[in-house]
Amino acid sequence: MRITARRILPVILGVVAAFLLALVLTVAGYAGAEAVTAGAFWTTLATLMLLMLVLGAILAVLALSLVRLVLRSAKVRKWLRRQIDRFLDYVEKDSQRRQAAKAQVLSARRQETTTRERLEAAERRLLATMDTFRFGHEDRLAALEERLEAVDEHMERQASKAERQRSDGVRHTTTTSRETVRQVESLMQLSGRVDSSHHRLPLSGGFAMNAEGLLWLTDLLQDHQPRKVLEVGSGASTSWMGEFVRRHGGKIVSVDHLEEYAAQTRHEVEARGLGDTVEVRLSPLQPVDIKDQTFQWYGLEAFHDLRDIDLLVVDGPPKSTGENARFPALPVLLDRLAPGCLVVMDDFNRPDERAIVEGWLDQFPQFEPVETFNERIGMIRRVV
Ligand SMILES: C[S@@+](CC[C@H](N)C(=O)[O-])C[C@H]1O[C@@H](n2cnc3c(N)ncnc32)[C@H](O)[C@@H]1O
Repeated sequence: MRITARRILPVILGVVAAFLLALVLTVAGYAGAEAVTAGAFWTTLATLMLLMLVLGAILAVLALSLVRLVLRSAKVRKWLRRQIDRFLDYVEKDSQRRQAAKAQVLSARRQETTTRERLEAAERRLLATMDTFRFGHEDRLAALEERLEAVDEHMERQASKAERQRSDGVRHTTTTSRETVRQVESLMQLSGRVDSSHHRLPLSGGFAMNAEGLLWLTDLLQDHQPRKVLEVGSGASTSWMGEFVRRHGGKIVSVDHLEEYAAQTRHEVEARGLGDTVEVRLSPLQPVDIKDQTFQWYGLEAFHDLRDIDLLVVDGPPKSTGENARFPALPVLLDRLAPGCLVVMDDFNRPDERAIVEGWLDQFPQFEPVETFNERIGMIRRVV
């Protein structure tokens, strides 16, 4: 027989009512009695406890029945299964979610790592590029600056060179113009002193004395009227001097070390009809010892017959033949110069010729300087 709630409930209620009745009767018996005996008390207590046990058992059976009922109920089972399924579903989904979340976290971490690595690589590349750019740029900039400075310096040099050339050019042009004017003026004055209608006189300038020098020299010849003139280094000056020396009856010996120029001078002299006044002698250069120095100078035989020279014109040998080439003139010819003799040095504006004249004055106290007012001509005079 199946125990159902409907069947057991009247039994339970009957048992409970019987026990309650017994209990009420017992308590009522106690209330009417004058004294309660120990046996009655223990009987009552035992009854109560038995009642309690029976009630407990009944309640337990009822509870079990209830549970069985509940469990056997299809609806409840269904509901429970649904709940369990839902729970399992929930657990599975939760697990999937967790795994998905975990995968996402891992993926995010991987991405983060990848991104960080990429960023670091990009940063390294950027720094390297910046370094390359910076260094390359600095190098290029420095090279550019250097080149600019070089260009600047070059431009400055060119500008100052151009300025120098310009001012040199202006100075040169000015000097040349002045010089030309001076020479033209000198020639104009010279032309009034000589007659060139019959035959030309040799041209001035170049290796020859310039017109200003010739004008100065003709002044000197007219003023001092030297009777014996010796010239070393012949040329145009020889014929010009011949014209003036002839006027007061003097004589000129002109010595040249080169056949070509000696012949040319001789020809000019003859052409001007100055053969009686001027004698051109050829005397190639030879070594001449003066103190402890050897010079290349004219051979001494060219002067062997010359005495009491009144005017010595030193215009050779040319500078190209040696250092201080003209120095020997005074020491070699000293004994052949008359007291009061004038010694003229052409090209006195050149340092070498100036130094030679100064050397003569130092070594030969019998000579004194004479002012010429011509920068190209130096002159000294024998005072004793
Ligand atoms: C300065 S020159 C003498 C110039 C001469 N007193 C005159 O005023 O015409 C000195 C020497 O240079 C030589 N000479 C002259 N004309 C020359 C020339 N065109 N080229 C090279 N040497 C020359 C001659 O030997 C001459 O004696």
